[in-house]
Amino acid sequence: MTVNTTVTVRVPAKVNLQLAVGPRREDGFHDLVNVFHAVSLFDEVTVQAASSRRPSPPGGVGSAAEAFAGLTAGGALGSHLSRVPLDGSNLAARAVTLLAERTGRGLPVTVHLDKNIPVAGGMAGGSADAAAALLACDRLWGCGLPLEELLGYAADLGSDVPFALLGATAVGMGRGEVLRPMTSPGRFRWVFALSPHGLSTASVFAEYDRIRPDAPEPLLDRGLADALAGGDPAALGAALTNDLQEAALSLLPELERTLKTGAGAGALGSLVSGSGPTCAFLVGGGAERESVVAEREAAVVAALEGSGLCEQVVTAYGDVPGAAVL
Ligand code: C5P
Repeated sequence: MTVNTTVTVRVPAKVNLQLAVGPRREDGFHDLVNVFHAVSLFDEVTVQAASSRRPSPPGGVGSAAEAFAGLTAGGALGSHLSRVPLDGSNLAARAVTLLAERTGRGLPVTVHLDKNIPVAGGMAGGSADAAAALLACDRLWGCGLPLEELLGYAADLGSDVPFALLGATAVGMGRGEVLRPMTSPGRFRWVFALSPHGLSTASVFAEYDRIRPDAPEPLLDRGLADALAGGDPAALGAALTNDLQEAALSLLPELERTLKTGAGAGALGSLVSGSGPTCAFLVGGGAERESVVAEREAAVVAALEGSGLCEQVVTAYGDVPGAAVL
């Protein structure tokens, strides 16, 4: 029998089409209506048996903490790469330890992250890596867990982790972890402006509490749901909203100029992605002619690149499927 000693999982970034944030709950989290949309910026996460010659002890590793044997990261992300924690605090490392703990299985693994998703950028890159690490270890260790069980472990790791397993488009409720798929007939094209800065999700939520102490209960925007169901890029662009945007702009005011630059160049919709600071621009899709979309996309990319405001400008389409073993 051949035993795999390496498993690689490809996992997408997300952008939020609607992020409605309710008041702060007693547990410190916020109830959300969070319309996640998976886009074609992918990280690849490889887990490798730390020593292929060392057999897994019966019943797995001695303690769950031993399951994580080290982490490396690479990719073409400029200064973003230096923000990736390389120790046990990385969410992908925590995913390895958590799965070993819960299943009592596993052998020590090293984790390599090949990153394309902005780091601390509001596109759930860390959450995506955690989801990929769960799936990769499940496969490497031969656990064969059902998706429902993996989704439960994912929710214990973070609010955005379950969506990275599912992908496509889904509305997240609760703190974002209770997911209901949404269907859309069309594909949409996006431009993303990466900031030279990072923002911590917790600090953006704290700023939101300061600015909006009276936040109402979050509700799904019917106009957005209709635009998605109809595959209508102009209506979708007009319906994009993010309650955290004001808080992200308050912490990094220059983002306002980035948003105006993309909108001024013809984007159909512009918003801060999640807790930021990545800015997302919808440039077309659905039934639009490919040449029309390509022209709009090129104009938005050129304006952003010429603005001197962004570390990098990248294009992607959505939606795409969630984490998958390669
Ligand atoms: O769940 P996750 O670990 O990604 O959350 C990071 C931080 O973002 C939390 O510690 C919390 O401050 C904030 N958060 C929140 N409400 C949510 C999700 C995240 O306040 N629904």
